[in-house]
Amino acid sequence: MHTNNFSSSLSLKKSACIVLLALAVYVGASSFKDNSVAGSRPLADSLVSKKAFLSVYDVLMSPRCMNCHPAGDVPLVGEDSKLHTQNVKRGKEGKGMYASKCANCHTDKNQPGLNMPPGNPNWHMPPADMKMVFEGKTPRELATLLLDPSSNGHKTKEDLVKHIAEDGLVLAGWDPGEGRKQPPLSHEEFVKQFKLWMDNGAYLPD
Ligand code: HEC
Ligand code: HEC
Repeated sequence: MHTNNFSSSLSLKKSACIVLLALAVYVGASSFKDNSVAGSRPLADSLVSKKAFLSVYDVLMSPRCMNCHPAGDVPLVGEDSKLHTQNVKRGKEGKGMYASKCANCHTDKNQPGLNMPPGNPNWHMPPADMKMVFEGKTPRELATLLLDPSSNGHKTKEDLVKHIAEDGLVLAGWDPGEGRKQPPLSHEEFVKQFKLWMDNGAYLPD
């Protein structure tokens, strides 16, 4: 009797153990599954978003864009982004200082010939109180700058997309004048990558 009781309670314990183990495995497996379903979406989004920003970054840091978004108050010129000659400076509104105004030389269209001023009716750099510096920024720093209303000209995400899709100075990058390279992506691809970055959560690159 004694032995019997013992062995039956043992086998009871055993089967209880097996049930519990099976339950644990089941719960474990299903909660793992749930986690991966809930967790993989944002992970995939953040990867897509960060990767898209790196393409955007290549355009922003190309001479066609960075030359007007320098760290200092002198615009940059050419493929190697040298300081602008002729003592040109930003000025309060980004349109030049004293008699040296951008519009004196940069007219409403590109001047034909090498090393002639590119043109646009609105040719100027960002103003002194909102410099929007691209030069020297890491991808993460530049993404942060673009998303911060206090440093991007108080733009919402929609305003930013509109700016890069339609702004005349942005478009000028793809019509840069003789002897100047276009940015590394087509304008269409640039807008597409910019939207991918935004629509997938506007993640900051690592
Ligand atoms: C001739 C100078 C000039 C060039 C070239 C230029 N920008 Fe700008 N950029 C500006 C100015 C000025 C602003 C400030 C907003 C304004 O006044 O339009 C600005 C602002 C921006 C902003 C901030 C968003 C905003 O709405 O203010 C982004 C993004 C931007 N530029 C992207 C680009 C890209 C991309 C290129 C190259 C394809 C480029 N810029 C080339 C002058 C320039
Ligand atoms: C005295 C005439 C003159 C004035 C004033 C002037 N520029 Fe220029 N700029 C030029 C010339 C010429 C070039 C072309 C130089 C070259 O390609 O070697 C040029 C080129 C540039 C470029 C390089 C474009 C590129 O894609 O590489 C930028 C940016 C620029 N100017 C911005 C400005 C801004 C902003 C102002 C006003 C704050 C200004 N410039 C005032 C004559 C001038």
